[in-house]
Amino acid sequence: MPGKVILAGEHAVVYGKMALAASIGLGVEAKVVKAPQGVQNQIIRKAIELAGGGRDLGVKIISEIPIGSGLGSSAAVSAAVIKAVRVYLGKSIRQDELFRLTMECEKITHGNPSGIDPATVVYGGLIAYRKGRPIERLQIKKSLTLLLVDSGRPMESTKEMVELVATNPQTERIVDEIETVVTKVRGGLERGRNVAEFLNQNGKLLEDLGVVGLGAMKLSNELRKLGCSVKITGAGGVVTGSGIMIVMNNNLVMIKGMLDKKHVGYIETIVGIE
Ligand code: PMV
Repeated sequence: MPGKVILAGEHAVVYGKMALAASIGLGVEAKVVKAPQGVQNQIIRKAIELAGGGRDLGVKIISEIPIGSGLGSSAAVSAAVIKAVRVYLGKSIRQDELFRLTMECEKITHGNPSGIDPATVVYGGLIAYRKGRPIERLQIKKSLTLLLVDSGRPMESTKEMVELVATNPQTERIVDEIETVVTKVRGGLERGRNVAEFLNQNGKLLEDLGVVGLGAMKLSNELRKLGCSVKITGAGGVVTGSGIMIVMNNNLVMIKGMLDKKHVGYIETIVGIE
C-alpha cells in the first residue's frame, strides 16, 4: 500500500472542509506469518483481527515510509495488514470495506481522524476528500514535482496536534481561509495552472494555526527567500520537528544543493500521474 502526501487542507479537513491528497511512490508491504512475530503493536493486532485473522497469525512489515512524519505510514501499515490477512485467508476485500476497516485502526491512535489518510492510501491517485462525502478523483492537466523535505520527526502525535489546533481561538477563521485556498489549489490543478503560490499560502496559514515549530519555520523562511513555495504536510509538530514539508521551485537542483549543504534530508516525488 502506498504512503500519502496531503497537498492542501490538513487540519481544516477535521472541521468538515475539503482537503487534497495524493498517494506517493513509497509504500508498505505486509506478509502474513504463522506464529506472531514477537509482541506486535496494538494497531497491527487490531488490523489482523478486523480482517478476520486469529491470534495464531502475525505479520512481517516491510516499509519505505518514514514513521510519524505525515506521510501516511500508520494508515498504509493498517491497510497492508488487512489486505494481506484477507489474501492469506483466501478472501477478497472491496475498496470501501478496506477503507472502513483501516479507519477503525486509525481511531486507535488518532482518536477522531477525518479519514483522509485511509482514503488516500486505499484509493490511491490524487483525491479530493471531505468527511462523510464520496471520494472524488481529480483529473489534473499537469503532474506536480514536489520535494518532500524532512524538518525532523515531530514529538507529538496527530491526535495531540489536532487537540492543539482546537485550543487556538483563531482556528475558525483560519480554517475558513484554508478552505478558500484549497478551492484555488483544486481549480488550478484541474486547469493545469501553477499552484505553487496557493500551496505557500496554505503553508503560512498552517503556521498561523500553530502547528509548525521554530526549526521548520526557520528552514521555510530560508527556502522562501530562494523563491520556494513551502508548506508542511500532515499534522505538524512544534516541540521538535514538524515532519515533512512540501517544497516547490522551478530550480530544484539549486534547492537540493542548499539542503545537501545543510544535511537536510529530502525525497523528490511526482504526483498526479497514475
Ligand atoms: O497523520 P497525519 O500527519 O498525516 O495528519 C492527518 C491530517 C490531519 O488533518 C492533521 C488529521 C486528520 O485526521 O485529518
